[in-house]
Amino acid sequence: MPDTNPNLNAQLEVEELCALLNEHNYRYYVLDAPLISDAEYDHLFQRLKSLEVEYPHLKALDSPTQRVGAAPSSDFSQIKHRIPMLSLDNAFSEEELGDFYSRIVSRAGEPVVKFVGEPKLDGIAVSLSYKNGVLEYGATRGDGQTGEDITTNVKTVRSIPLRLKGDDVPAEVEVRGEIFMPLKAFDAINVEADKTGSKRFVNPRNAAAGSLRQLDSRVTAQRGLVMNAYALGYVSDLEVKTHYEAMLQLKEWGFLVNTNIALLEGLDDVLSYRERLAKLREHLDYEIDGIVFKVDSLGLQQKLGFVSRAPRWAIAYKFPAQEASTVLRSVDFQVGRTGAVTPVARLEPVFVGGVTVSNATLHNMDEIRRLGVRIGDKVVIQRAGDVIPKISRIVIEQRPKETYEILLPKSCPVCESDIETDGSIARCTGSLVCSAQVKESIKHFVSRKALDIDGFGDKLVEQLVDKELLERASDIFRLKRSDLLLLERMGEKSADNLLGAIESAKNVPLHRLIYALGIREVGETTAKTLALSLGSILELFDIAESELLALDDVGPIVAAHVLAFTGNAENFSLIEEMLAQGLNVEIPVQDNNQAKSLSGRTFVITGTLPTMGRDEMKHLLEGAGAKVSGSISKNTSYLVAGEKAGSKLAKAQSLGVQILDEVAALALISA
Ligand code: IVH
Repeated sequence: MPDTNPNLNAQLEVEELCALLNEHNYRYYVLDAPLISDAEYDHLFQRLKSLEVEYPHLKALDSPTQRVGAAPSSDFSQIKHRIPMLSLDNAFSEEELGDFYSRIVSRAGEPVVKFVGEPKLDGIAVSLSYKNGVLEYGATRGDGQTGEDITTNVKTVRSIPLRLKGDDVPAEVEVRGEIFMPLKAFDAINVEADKTGSKRFVNPRNAAAGSLRQLDSRVTAQRGLVMNAYALGYVSDLEVKTHYEAMLQLKEWGFLVNTNIALLEGLDDVLSYRERLAKLREHLDYEIDGIVFKVDSLGLQQKLGFVSRAPRWAIAYKFPAQEASTVLRSVDFQVGRTGAVTPVARLEPVFVGGVTVSNATLHNMDEIRRLGVRIGDKVVIQRAGDVIPKISRIVIEQRPKETYEILLPKSCPVCESDIETDGSIARCTGSLVCSAQVKESIKHFVSRKALDIDGFGDKLVEQLVDKELLERASDIFRLKRSDLLLLERMGEKSADNLLGAIESAKNVPLHRLIYALGIREVGETTAKTLALSLGSILELFDIAESELLALDDVGPIVAAHVLAFTGNAENFSLIEEMLAQGLNVEIPVQDNNQAKSLSGRTFVITGTLPTMGRDEMKHLLEGAGAKVSGSISKNTSYLVAGEKAGSKLAKAQSLGVQILDEVAALALISA
């Protein structure tokens, strides 16, 4: 007899569809071997979705409908890892790798040790927690002890199982791995950004990080992210003796495990794996910045233990910066917001480190002299991690017969005003007559840390200035719908959205407005200091040199730039005009709460931090009452240093400034 209870039928159907869709998802995204067409998948998916709408209580924790994301959440909450997420020590040469190997062999007391070699994926570390096989939450690494809850976002990553495959899964397990953006997805996102005139991502890692930290998980779902599992955290019950076995287990549970992982025996194997991966690197469709070598035996891992936050049993070998040689075809001079004229090298396109490079920065004329470079020269391009490619040297032996000197133009390439040089910097004197400076200053005015006008991308600014619809920043508030509709790729809906964004940007905190004005040497920190000492934006124009110098963080140079700005009547009229257009400047309330733990202390942040951007660290420090400055002086209390810290680290060391890593800084903040 057929079952007449519609609820029961629905429940069975929902369960069946869930299992079926998860299996097809796995076949498609993990095994790369789909059994059904996209259309068939969509059909099943829509059926499940409509059942879930009809019977909301039947929506399961592992329902594939969550893969498309959900409406924005307001914040990420914190999650404590059951087992801390560690970092790795680095080796930068074959020699350091050899030292690592010898240390292990001597501590192990065994002549030959087995290792697993794995690509070091350049993405974001995550920890996934499964309870009775079902994904319960996903978290970022955070400070290693506590991370952010990114469960909704993680569920949109198709290679992450929402339910572990197999019957005999542990009651509780934490799975660690890297979420990254394949190069294809990265290129596609930047092509899209170019189309809409929004900001490009500099590299796949930033793109992955930005996508994962979206409050709107529907955006994350569109970003083509992938996860590779590379370790276990806490496990309630599991019999594995080696890391390699753990990787096989993860694969069985339905995770993507990197296919280039290898079991290695002895130093020779380790070194030849390094050779092999270095060659393979440029053919991979994702970025790696090194190799992780891990002792295979879990017993030996335990015996070796940890030093501070890094295990003794593993090391990250980092590839040297990637280089390629090409020809310098020409040099263009670009004009920035403050008029700085910067030489940019135009190169014969060359493939280096997974991307095609056709431009490189030359910084300034001093750099050109230092390199001794001439147009036509054979040059070596260096691309390290996420930095802009640069010319590292010339190949003088291969200098062709005809080369040309690189000359600083006498007048601005954009507006033909005179160029003056101050130190190594050449500057166009055109200011508001120079459309390049106008464009750059308006781009700055609408940028994220300034007025943050959504949808006001670079291309849009350029079109508006070229069409003379914008001559200065205040004109933004005069833009009409009919002006916008004249532009390329601007439909009625986008025009209305943009006008809405401009309208909401009219309520602006004073410090953001000051920052937005783009006064030379006035960054976010100085803008905040100024804002705290002012009762209105107009007071900025009355401030005297002595008052400026009395402020923290303001020296004679900054003071001179502020006075040069306020002394210019054009700038006063700019502000008056904005106020007339309805700009509403929010004045900060002085925070007299002295209880904040880090008030009175000054921090500088440098290098790449392991788990967060420098902005995020800055935000946390300021939240704890600290001041964050851009340069090291004897007044600096602490330097927070990440990887590739460079000259600031050296300066801090020479001045005896205390140096913190990310974990130590976070500990201070929460102390
Ligand atoms: S293992 C105790 N394996 O590298 C071992 N890490 O400093 C913990 N990473 O941010 C990490 N690929 O996200 C491991 N195959 C791999 C990795 C890997 C990339 C990242 C990881 C962490 C950093 C370690």
